[in-house]
Amino acid sequence: MISIIVAIAQNGVIGKDNQLLWHLSDDLKRFKALTTGHTVVMGRKTYDSLPFRPLKNRRNIIISRNMPEGEGYEVVRNIDTALVRATSDKESFIIGGEQIYRETVNEVDQLIVTWIYRDFEGDTFFPKINPAIWGIKERSGRMLDEASGLEYEYVTYEKI
Ligand SMILES: NC(=O)c1ccc[n+]([C@@H]2O[C@H](COP(=O)([O-])OP(=O)(O)OC[C@H]3O[C@@H](n4cnc5c(N)ncnc54)[C@H](OP(=O)(O)O)[C@@H]3O)[C@@H](O)[C@H]2O)c1
Repeated sequence: MISIIVAIAQNGVIGKDNQLLWHLSDDLKRFKALTTGHTVVMGRKTYDSLPFRPLKNRRNIIISRNMPEGEGYEVVRNIDTALVRATSDKESFIIGGEQIYRETVNEVDQLIVTWIYRDFEGDTFFPKINPAIWGIKERSGRMLDEASGLEYEYVTYEKI
C-alpha cells in the first residue's frame, strides 16, 4: 500500500521558502508513528528541508535528477523507479513536497491528510482533492492544538 501523507492548510498551502508553516506536535508524533519501520519517498527539496536527515528507522528514497548517492538514503532519478521500490514494502509513504505530490497523486492508494483550518500564505500547494475520485475513509473530527491555537483534523481518503 502506498499512501501520500501531507498536512494542508485550508487554502491548499503546504509550505513556504522550503519550510513548513506551522508546528503541530501531535501531527509530528503521528507522522513518526505511521512511517517508522517503513519506506518514505520524497523530493530532493523536501529532503533538504528536513531538520534531521535521513529520517531515522525508515528507508529514505529521494527523487532527484542531480543529487549524488549518500550514506543512509537511496536516490532515484524518476518517479516510476521510486514507486517500484516503494511497492516492495507493505507500507510506503510519499512525504512531499508539491512536485512529488502532483506527480504521484494519481498513483497512490490513499491520502493521509492533516487539514489545518486556517489560511496560510505560502509558495507550495497540494493539488485539489477530487471528491469524484477520493472518498473519506476515516476522520478524527476537529481538534485544537493548545500550543499554536490551530484547529486541525486527520482525514484519510481512499479511491472510490
Ligand atoms: N505540509 C506538508 O505536509 C509538506 C510535506 C513535505 C514538504 N512540504 C513542503 O513542500 C515544499 C517543497 O516542495 P517542492 O515542490 O518545492 O519540492 P519537492 O517536491 O520536495 O522536490 C522537488 C525536487 O524533486 C526532484 N524531482 C521532482 N520531480 C522529479 C522527477 N519527475 N524526476 C526526478 N526528480 C524529480 C527535483 O530534484 P533536483 O532539483 O535535485 O533534480 C526537484 O527539484 C517545502 O516548502 C516543504 O516544506 C510540505
